[in-house]
Amino acid sequence: MRVQVIDHPLVAHKLTVLRDARTDSPTFRRLADELVTLLAYEATRGVRVDELRISTPVSETTGVKLASPKPLVVPILRAGLGMLDGMTRLLPTAEVGFLGMVRDEETLQASTYAHRLPDDLSGRQCYVLDPMLATGGTLVAAIQYLFDIGADDVTAVCLLAAPEGLEVVTSSFGADAPITVVTAAVDERLDENGYIVPGLGDAGDRLYGVV
Ligand code: URA
Repeated sequence: MRVQVIDHPLVAHKLTVLRDARTDSPTFRRLADELVTLLAYEATRGVRVDELRISTPVSETTGVKLASPKPLVVPILRAGLGMLDGMTRLLPTAEVGFLGMVRDEETLQASTYAHRLPDDLSGRQCYVLDPMLATGGTLVAAIQYLFDIGADDVTAVCLLAAPEGLEVVTSSFGADAPITVVTAAVDERLDENGYIVPGLGDAGDRLYGVV
């Protein structure tokens, strides 16, 4: 598994505003969207392309286009939805699948309550959107779901990650697994409730309110 922490002043700036408890939901949503687009730029560095001959107004040349099958973007409901527009802005022709996962706040175990995905993901690059890689339970369950239906290349885009969660994903799939985690920062630790410290709180609540 590869972990890529995006070290860029604009990423750090937007993340700081997201962390700030005074930031309201509309601002949080807009900045999360912008931050995801910056992360997506790096997350898609390995996206597969095919060569293409084109004519410019001046001459013929060789360019590239996204390879088929097209990438699949999978936001994990609910908080991953707040990352979807930021990701598809850079990959407008990607298909979008959905995974609804909820974690039991006592056991911290993740379970799937909804899914809408292609039957077969063979040969597709998958981009999972999950803002907070905390205990790792949700991401492990989501990646296992995608592997079970044929995925062999998964990139998780997370606003923040905890060292404990990264360790759980690595130990669940092995260091050589075809998984990349792209994140704006790896924070200090988890607290006793499974929240990332210093973190930014509950990403779903900050995006959408406490419902
Ligand atoms: N989920 C969140 O939204 N925030 C955390 O800190 C951990 C899990």
